[in-house]
Amino acid sequence: MSYIEQTVEFLKDKGFESPEVGIILGTGLGKLLDEVEVLAEVSYNHIPHFPTATVEFHKGKLIYGQLSGKKVVVMQGRFHLYEGYDFLDVTYPVRIMHRLGIKKLLVSNAAGAINLDFKKGEIMLIDDHINLLGGSPLAFKGVSKTGDRFVDMSCPYDPKMSKKVEAIAQENNITLHKGVYASVMGPQLETRAEYRYLKIIGADAVGMSTVPEIIVANHLKLPVIAVSVLTDECDPDHLKPVDVEAIIETAAKAEPHMITLFKQLIGKLEV
Ligand code: HPA
Repeated sequence: MSYIEQTVEFLKDKGFESPEVGIILGTGLGKLLDEVEVLAEVSYNHIPHFPTATVEFHKGKLIYGQLSGKKVVVMQGRFHLYEGYDFLDVTYPVRIMHRLGIKKLLVSNAAGAINLDFKKGEIMLIDDHINLLGGSPLAFKGVSKTGDRFVDMSCPYDPKMSKKVEAIAQENNITLHKGVYASVMGPQLETRAEYRYLKIIGADAVGMSTVPEIIVANHLKLPVIAVSVLTDECDPDHLKPVDVEAIIETAAKAEPHMITLFKQLIGKLEV
């Protein structure tokens, strides 16, 4: 049995039966779980072949349950390249959720606003991305056994789900921007010159995650959307020293809006 099959068998034994929707919760964005009727949960460290969680504010759990009438599998906390994991580690859970049977994937993250028309505490629906991570989760021998090697990325974020999210935002009076997310390796924050560069190349937000998972979702032909909760304004001309605590606090303040978007979207999905 392959690693993936072993992990999937383990989770099925724990009750992760036929989830329809997968959700990846970003830094400081765990409260969606309060809305989930939890049927099973396992810490990452107990799942065979899963990378193990390290950063303290990631609780690091995989949860299975019911949300808005759908069976969901939720990653509370994700793996980052900056923690020392490689591209295959950080995308392993996407492959697992796919093999468990999810039909749609919803991703969230905390990000800095490069577009200064966007304010911290607001949300951006990711419309496109720029991969500045210096690598790909598809650059390995045997990738063509699981999907295309030369994956089309002309439309990486599912337009149907994106339209639904935009409609939900409007109905609920939630400010929802749309824009380009640039992913950087981190963990250091950007210099003023790097923020200027990100703006010039067309980024509206910057963060340290998400792009590897989106690439693998496209490789697996799994429709995916992603939202960024904007936690700081990256103004190179008025840059203050970063405060990670403040970033996490801002994420928590914007979180209720993100929860509304995801909850209502899941209710409306055809899976
Ligand atoms: N840069 C990179 N990642 C981030 C930022 C940022 O300004 N804010 C939140 N995550």
